[in-house]
Amino acid sequence: MVNIYSPCLNINKEGHLAISGCDTITLAEQYGTPLYVMSEDEVRRVCKSYVDSFGKYYHGNGRPIYASKAFSCKEMYRIVTSEGLDVEVVSGGELYTALQAGVPGENIHFQGNNKTMQELEFAIDSNVSDIVVDNFAELELLGKLAREKGKTVRVSLRIKPGIDAHTHEFIRTGQVDSKFGLDLTSGEALQAVTRAIELDGVKLIGLHCHIGSQIMEKEPFVHAAEVMLELHNRIYKELGVELEQLNLGGGFGIHYLETDDFIPYHEYMEAVSAKIGEKCVEYGINQPKIYIEPGRSIVGEAGITLYTVGNIKEIPNVRSYVSIDGGMFDNPRYALYQSDYTCLIANKAAQPADYVATIAGKCCESGDLIQEHTHIQKPETGDILAVLSTGAYNYSMASNYNRNPRPAFVMVKEGESRIIIKGETYEDLVHNDL
Ligand code: LLP
Repeated sequence: MVNIYSPCLNINKEGHLAISGCDTITLAEQYGTPLYVMSEDEVRRVCKSYVDSFGKYYHGNGRPIYASKAFSCKEMYRIVTSEGLDVEVVSGGELYTALQAGVPGENIHFQGNNKTMQELEFAIDSNVSDIVVDNFAELELLGKLAREKGKTVRVSLRIKPGIDAHTHEFIRTGQVDSKFGLDLTSGEALQAVTRAIELDGVKLIGLHCHIGSQIMEKEPFVHAAEVMLELHNRIYKELGVELEQLNLGGGFGIHYLETDDFIPYHEYMEAVSAKIGEKCVEYGINQPKIYIEPGRSIVGEAGITLYTVGNIKEIPNVRSYVSIDGGMFDNPRYALYQSDYTCLIANKAAQPADYVATIAGKCCESGDLIQEHTHIQKPETGDILAVLSTGAYNYSMASNYNRNPRPAFVMVKEGESRIIIKGETYEDLVHNDL
């Protein structure tokens, strides 16, 4: 039997995979496949645990921010903000979606390593909480735009703390060789701080770092907090400016396989808050307002994808390809990062997983695989294949490759289901074609 690790999943009395009390086979019949499904109960549970830990470890002096690049749509913004989280956006499109969902500008943090002038103007006009500035050119441009608009924009600075987190090289961001942010070790960061303090049109309110994603250990986070607080203290002591906030980014690991061994969030929160408390006492400074910015850990395990099995090609002494009606257009993560996934035949979830399969998508590309050599129940054409932990960076990274329409997205809660994003139609595909 495949071990289903997420608290929102179980095997029901029919022997089918169920999510938040909904039978996945019924969902597949009702809405068709491929289908993204997410448990609202699970998303809310994780949000609450983050909010609670801010109460416990920071006495409310801080707040979690949902990094919406993990999964962005109007309903998602409504759910996370109703749980008391702020949102991080990284493009005009995410900003627009958040505003359309009714999120007030003051709860939105705007991030990105190469924001366009239009995006910066949009963020200023939307009165976002702060703009996280990545580089000198952006700082100058922002100052100019703000002055032209007669405004003072709240900015924080994205710092590269020089920490090499152990994760896939494409999703590692805190080291010196990174396209993101201002380098601490060379003095670039302090130079940017000095410029931001003197520049008209901007008000420097804080520092920001993000060291990478799907990080399984707590040490790099504790180290990053220490390094960032040291900079915060230097700014106070050397430049006389007490910054309001410190954003330590996201990056907490989740299960893709049952055996994935990552630290529980509260342990991370506890260790980081202890370090921050200790350092503030040592420096004799007030504790800044702390933010963290998780994306994957809020939605990742809450989401699954359902597919219908098509042809099965058993190539003797080579491998068995089990083809599905989706692929890299709805989930490019194996093709991009060779990421692990747990797969199972949802209508045979209680049976032994003793068949070794390579799950292949329907795109015209050999690399269009979801997983290789994975253990599933013996598949037959027409079965429903579930891929677990697809809530983060699946829908948000989907494309129309081979002109495949993006699948529908269904939210489930306490046994009820509803569409939150309609599946694309062929007409949608030609909508902008002239
Ligand atoms: N804050 C910043 C500034 C970020 O760049 C990211 C992720 C986050 C927060 C949220 O990190 P999380 O908690 O989700 O790990 N597409 C890749 C992941 C890219 C992450 C990009 N930045 C993947 O599918 O694994």
